[in-house]
Amino acid sequence: MTKVTAAITAVNGYLPDYILTNKELEKMVDTTEEWIISRTGIEERRLLKGEGKGSSDMAVEAVKGLLAKKGMLPTEIDLLICATVTPDLVFPATANITCDKLGATNAWGFDLGAACSGFIYAVTVASQFIETGKYKKVVVVGVDKMSSIIDYTDRSTCVIFGDGAGAVLLEPNQEGLGIMDSILKSDGSGRHYLHQKAGGSVKPASHATVDAKEHFVFQDGQPVFKAAVKGMADVSAEIMEKNNLSSEDVSWLVPHQANKRIIDATANRMGVGSDKVMLNIQRYGNTTSGTIPLCLWDYEKQLKKGDNIILSAFGGGFTWGAIYVKWAYNS
Ligand code: UT7
Repeated sequence: MTKVTAAITAVNGYLPDYILTNKELEKMVDTTEEWIISRTGIEERRLLKGEGKGSSDMAVEAVKGLLAKKGMLPTEIDLLICATVTPDLVFPATANITCDKLGATNAWGFDLGAACSGFIYAVTVASQFIETGKYKKVVVVGVDKMSSIIDYTDRSTCVIFGDGAGAVLLEPNQEGLGIMDSILKSDGSGRHYLHQKAGGSVKPASHATVDAKEHFVFQDGQPVFKAAVKGMADVSAEIMEKNNLSSEDVSWLVPHQANKRIIDATANRMGVGSDKVMLNIQRYGNTTSGTIPLCLWDYEKQLKKGDNIILSAFGGGFTWGAIYVKWAYNS
């Protein structure tokens, strides 16, 4: 019997309309367009504006478009996994809220928190349900409204992040295409360098935590940068080696979009030329869980059935990892 693999059979994205440019940021904090572009590669990012709008609203738009592409009804979804660090609420899960707003009444779902590695963690989890034959249609959404946890007076973080959502559909494949392998890692001792200090069970929200701005992202950039360069490059090289892939065999690298310099270091280590590296950080910044599916969405038309693709990420936790995908369709 042919082995069942989990294949990505559709991809879609959603970005809010509001564009925050580097020029605009120059008016808000002590920064320059030149600094932001040369240190990160980011030219602009999108923010979700509007009272009462949260991550689920972007997730819903991304999934609606996904279903439309496949001519699928929301009721056909078996499971929806939402990767996010900016859920609508602490509970219930944004996956549940998203399913309700979509009318995905036959699906169950949950949120997965692995910061910037959330999407690759979630795809790996989702693929298990397909490979075992348990489910036929699993949606993974990577979504973050980073603007909800960013201090727009802190120049070290506010220039980096943006809002957005990307979604993929996973279905069974018997042609040897889809998710071939994944390597996932974590090291909780890295948590001190990138986290949100308050709002969890250790330090619940109080007047004092709000006054101390502890509900915003805290990042000590340099240690994270160093760990990201090593982690993403090492794991990407490791998955190539494990699957006997040479740099010529790799059609595309789909890196988490945190910093253009981290992306370049990863591509160099893999021996992959810049023409094979998906890049949209210049337009969206770091959308945390959204970066990888948004790249797949932007480059979908260039992808061909059988292409060898490496997805690679590093994020808070620390969490990191890579997935080897054989692309399953021509669009
Ligand atoms: O996605 C999840 C994982 N996150 C990452 O992978 C992010 C990893 N880290 C980074 O990408 C980089 O560390 C940053 C982009 C966050 C910062 O770049 P850097 O080259 O590491 O800068 P730095 O933190 O070493 O700061 C260098 C200088 C400092 O000034 P002094 O001390 O040299 O006078 C900063 O205060 O740049 C200053 N600086 C800025 N200057 C202008 C920091 N932010 C800004 C800014 N505009 N926005």
